Amino acid sequence: MHFASLSLVLISAQLLTTTNAANILGIFAFPVKGQYSFVEPLLKELAQRGHHVTSITNYPQSEPVENFRDIAIEGNQHLFDEFKNFSMETIEPNHFDVVGAFYSKTYKMSHNIFANENVRKLRQRESFDLIIMDVLFTESFFGFGEEFGAPMVAISSWGTMTSVDELVGNTTPLSYIPNMIMLRHYNQNMNFWRRSLNVAVYILDWIHYYYTYMPMQQKIYDQHFPNASKSITEAQKNFSLVLVNDHFVLSTPRPYVPNMIEVAGMHIPSQVEPLAEDIKEILDKAQQGIIYITINSFLPQHIFQMVLNVLGNFERLVLWNTQYHVLHTLQIPPNVYFSTNVSHYTMLSLPNIHLLISHGEYLRIVESIHYGVPILSLPRFDGFNEDCVDNIRKIGNGISLSWNQMRERTLSKALNDLLATDRYRREAKLKSKQFRDQQNTPLERAIYWIEYVLRFQGAHHLRNLGQNLTIWEFYNLDVFLCLSLAALVCICLSYIFLNLMLKLIVNIK
Ligand SMILES: *[C@@H]1O[C@H](CO)[C@@H](O)[C@H](O)[C@H]1NC(C)=O
Ligand SMILES: *[C@@H]1O[C@H](CO)[C@@H](O)[C@H](O)[C@H]1NC(C)=O
Ligand SMILES: *[C@@H]1O[C@H](CO)[C@@H](O)[C@H](O)[C@H]1NC(C)=O
Ligand SMILES: *[C@@H]1O[C@H](CO)[C@@H](O)[C@H](O)[C@H]1NC(C)=O
Ligand SMILES: *[C@@H]1O[C@H](CO)[C@@H](O)[C@H](O)[C@H]1NC(C)=O
Repeated sequence: MHFASLSLVLISAQLLTTTNAANILGIFAFPVKGQYSFVEPLLKELAQRGHHVTSITNYPQSEPVENFRDIAIEGNQHLFDEFKNFSMETIEPNHFDVVGAFYSKTYKMSHNIFANENVRKLRQRESFDLIIMDVLFTESFFGFGEEFGAPMVAISSWGTMTSVDELVGNTTPLSYIPNMIMLRHYNQNMNFWRRSLNVAVYILDWIHYYYTYMPMQQKIYDQHFPNASKSITEAQKNFSLVLVNDHFVLSTPRPYVPNMIEVAGMHIPSQVEPLAEDIKEILDKAQQGIIYITINSFLPQHIFQMVLNVLGNFERLVLWNTQYHVLHTLQIPPNVYFSTNVSHYTMLSLPNIHLLISHGEYLRIVESIHYGVPILSLPRFDGFNEDCVDNIRKIGNGISLSWNQMRERTLSKALNDLLATDRYRREAKLKSKQFRDQQNTPLERAIYWIEYVLRFQGAHHLRNLGQNLTIWEFYNLDVFLCLSLAALVCICLSYIFLNLMLKLIVNIK
């Protein structure tokens, strides 16, 4: 009897957990490692909580993870390699060619995913309760919401922008939030001309998005969702939640609708793994502090040697985390060590780390803020400078150097400023305190809201009415136009009336 009831309890507990567990499909199409490293911990945490996660990605797990399945899209891995030498400095003359070529690659990227054998099987045979996708160049996938009848959650690996705002009817005040390409002037108010420029850029951006970019995505959508009852723009308004990789310490305080949540730092683990023995041995010698470098790309030999020479002038121990073989022809100063097997977050959490040197990727900047370490950004010589924006200067916890600043004197001066003065260290510590003072961790927040969407079958009550308005209605452009016309008519009428009166008076005299 006892046994029976006990097993009944056990069975119902089992049922309870299985009903709560959801089938989640993740689509992370764009082959940028940083984008996936941001979301990977979230997917794994969902799997750990009993959900079944299927992840369409270019970066499959090296070891199997429970409740977690990868669908690797090999064809996309090197799709964008030819854009690697693209830089904002050389883009001007052939801007439109580059954009055109880039778009045709994004077309190919989506196509590779739809054509993948495993994706096709999955569309025929499986069902999902929730879809999480990165929304960079992936509008053609918005049809999955209707196909699976599942709510959609968007991930924006940067902050928000026009295409992301549009998903949930969010608004970005153009009076004080400059467009991405104008971010350099972030921390100051814009004067009349800047605001005008900002509005003009927004209008161009919007027109480009809906009249050049979206038709292309629509073609893919129509091709692969022939049975969809709704158009791509209707599917676009069907997002339940947007998680943005942003935080007001990183960018600026700004408004969000309630189903848009800031989760910057979500990828940073709450606990770090211990260091390998050989690394520990090296770090024991670091009486004067540590400079940690994570640069994993090709550097021209003379630049590499120059960086090493400058580092050799400092007393701190330098640990350089790289997968590259370091050339024999380089002269390596005695305080510089290379390693291929350093636990990144453990290094950043060490108490005597004085500086992080990287390419200034967005996630590295977030980490430098989280751990309160000043950051120095060196330019890339082999590829995308991931940021067209000098985020570091904007935030103030470090220095970033551009290509034409990569000289011995400039680098020495930057390192001196960063290490010898207190300014950057103080700023980094302050930003870290401000950033980490949160009610819950970004990962907890992301999980909470995703499960909230699951609990309320898409949480339609979170959506705002503005989502369905046209741009005229949303910004009351029709009303302003009408009011201006009315004012104009009034002014004209009173002018005519006054004229008449004046004539009458003159005539009477
Ligand atoms: C990018 O530039 C580097 C250095 O100039 C060159 O070695 C490399 O082959 C280029 N990569 C591509 C994909 O064009
Ligand atoms: C919107 O999402 C719901 C699931 O939350 C789905 O059932 C519906 O078909 C979707 N509609 C469109 C237009 O995509
Ligand atoms: C669309 O619907 C038709 C008829 O119902 C069906 O034969 C076809 O397989 C469907 N196509 C897709 C892509 O689901
Ligand atoms: C890398 O370091 C870990 C400990 O952090 C260690 O277990 C592993 O064996 C190391 N791998 C190599 C190739 O040295
Ligand atoms: C927007 O329109 C769609 C269909 O046209 C509707 O299902 C949805 O509820 C509307 N959203 C809001 C917030 O009113």
